[in-house]
Amino acid sequence: MNIFDIGFEKGSITECIVTTYNEDMSPNAAPMGIFTLRDDMIVLRVHTDTDTYSNLAREKCCALNIVFDPYLFLKTAVTGQGDGGKENEICSEDIIRKTGVNAPVLKEAFAVIEGELLGYKKYTRKDRYRTSEVAVAKLKVRDVRVLKEFPRAVNRGLYAAIELAVDLSRGRTVSKDRYLKVMKRSLRAGEYRRVLGLLESVEIVEI
Ligand SMILES: Cc1cc2nc3c(=O)[nH]c(=O)nc-3n(C[C@H](O)[C@H](O)[C@H](O)COP(=O)(O)O)c2cc1C
Repeated sequence: MNIFDIGFEKGSITECIVTTYNEDMSPNAAPMGIFTLRDDMIVLRVHTDTDTYSNLAREKCCALNIVFDPYLFLKTAVTGQGDGGKENEICSEDIIRKTGVNAPVLKEAFAVIEGELLGYKKYTRKDRYRTSEVAVAKLKVRDVRVLKEFPRAVNRGLYAAIELAVDLSRGRTVSKDRYLKVMKRSLRAGEYRRVLGLLESVEIVEI
């Protein structure tokens, strides 16, 4: 099995939750866009002020989790951002430790890809919001495993949550009401309330 078998396509970007170990071996998780180069080669463009970057640079590996949970995308994007693992966005009950590389796997994952860092180059990126440093990291796919049955019916709430998570992780709140409206209409009531509770508990600093 390779990453093409689970929906990755050469030249496209797939949203995964990247899991790594912090220095104290607590687990870290963050959504990241994965660019596919080949069936066994991927690229991450990771901001160097994130824990994911520090952990990847130190451990030289990570796990890419395929998940469909709107709450998890939001939670891991808006909490514990670049804090050196002080505030854990996930805890040891959320993960499976036994993997082929030194990285945890989310219990929620429908599939997992184990990646080994081959190298990275840093560059400075300027957009209209900020200037930031990004590492372009090339990874070799070491293993691909399907953990749960895959087919998932489309629910707009997931896509709304992912788009909102992207905005909030960049300090932009203008789209919040619009995406919450989609989630309110499409998610289960309990799931929506959980998302609302999360968003009420975090402070997003507008850039
Ligand atoms: C769908 C999605 C994709 C993202 N892709 C990236 C990415 O490719 N590179 C990056 O540096 N941050 C990306 N982010 C933002 C990080 O997930 C966010 O900054 C996160 O809090 C970093 O956490 P960490 O410090 O624990 O690594 C993305 C966020 C979302 C919601």
